[in-house]
Amino acid sequence: MRAISYVIITAAIAAMASAVNPLPKAHAETAIERGHYLVVVAGCNDCHTPGFFFGKPDPNKYLGGSDVGFEIPGLGVFNGRNITPDKETGIGGWTDEQIAAAITTGRRPDGRQLAPIMNYQAFVNMTKDDVKAVVAYLRSIPPVHNKVPGPYKPGEKVTIFTFRIEPPGQTAAEAPK
Ligand code: HEC
Repeated sequence: MRAISYVIITAAIAAMASAVNPLPKAHAETAIERGHYLVVVAGCNDCHTPGFFFGKPDPNKYLGGSDVGFEIPGLGVFNGRNITPDKETGIGGWTDEQIAAAITTGRRPDGRQLAPIMNYQAFVNMTKDDVKAVVAYLRSIPPVHNKVPGPYKPGEKVTIFTFRIEPPGQTAAEAPK
């Protein structure tokens, strides 16, 4: 009896979870579905879709590059780049291996090391199959033609909104106009 009610409760919780959050299933069938699931739970959308940090991610520019940069003192300001398959402004011209390397080691094909605000130090813990699935999913989404500015070196004028580490004693800002 106990086991049966446990099963019923678990099923009820699962049903509720899928009603409020229509995520692809954890045990997805195809690599692309698995990749979609991983991209959603890893929060790639947060830092790579414009509008996300203002509460209105732009569905027409999904993963097309952020409009907000993160300032790392001494290193510069870095915004999530266009990771759609657009050849000119995204990663459409990269090989699967180059995309996988950027995600797990932070190394771009041009040799530049990505700023550590991109979570490659966490993503290196993904299994090889999961990394392949993420790459397969990124290749499957619509290309967005959007050339994001940046990154900006220390001393350079920044043309986008920025997350900045400030010393204590600041006044919390109003919403940007
Ligand atoms: C906390 C914010 C954040 C999250 C979450 C994040 N990224 Fe990034 N990502 C960045 C930033 C910022 C850059 C650019 C860093 C730089 O230019 O040095 C970047 C760069 C990249 C690049 C290299 C693109 C290029 O043109 O250089 C790829 C590929 C990438 N991210 C994929 C992903 C994927 C896939 C996920 C989710 C599994 C993800 N990112 C999650 C912030 C993030």
